[in-house]
Amino acid sequence: MKLSILMKYHMFYLIGVKNTILLAVFSVTFGLIIGIILSLMKISNNKFLNAISTAYIEFFRGTPLLVQVYIIFYGLPIDLPKFTAGILALSLNSGAYVSEIFRSGIQAIDKGQMEAARSLGMSYKMAMRYIIIPQAIKNVLPALGNEFIVVIKESAIVSVIGIHELMYNAQTVRGNTYSPFLPLFFAALIYLFMTSILSKLMSRLERRLRAGDKG
Ligand code: ARG
Repeated sequence: MKLSILMKYHMFYLIGVKNTILLAVFSVTFGLIIGIILSLMKISNNKFLNAISTAYIEFFRGTPLLVQVYIIFYGLPIDLPKFTAGILALSLNSGAYVSEIFRSGIQAIDKGQMEAARSLGMSYKMAMRYIIIPQAIKNVLPALGNEFIVVIKESAIVSVIGIHELMYNAQTVRGNTYSPFLPLFFAALIYLFMTSILSKLMSRLERRLRAGDKG
């Protein structure tokens, strides 16, 4: 197959990339929020909150994302639009991973930091917000960047419910051109392009946050 034939289908790739980026941006944002809340629940002393977050994390890490996508799209009592269902599944799934990243980041902060903050009269909440979490964020940045990359790649799974993201559209191009390989290879290059931009951005952010550490 000629590359020129692929050019004819460039709109499929553009639309696919747009939808993949939309999926990833929403899912990473919601996943981050869900993850932070879950991690705080998990390290709290409240047994009830603890149990909920543990069960949540176990479920979403212990079952395939593919199954979660199907359950959310076909199994919920309400009919969600497929794009919403896709974002929901990716966010709920990513939230479980983000929460474990944050929990380890928070627990890695020396407990003297909390003691010092409390002895200065800060409440637990204030100490978390102003002392512990800002330091934890810096430490978890590499793992978080990794998670964002995973979300971009795993968004390909929601093609199974008919969302026209990059993978779905690459499959369409395969069908239309009778070319089994090149359309997929092209999609792979686009994924690689997106993930490498993201990892560049994350390492720049890391460097900037670390700049204050020296001296
Ligand atoms: N393929 C894995 C699954 O099916 C990916 C889970 C997503 N991972 C993540 N870090 N968000 O469960």
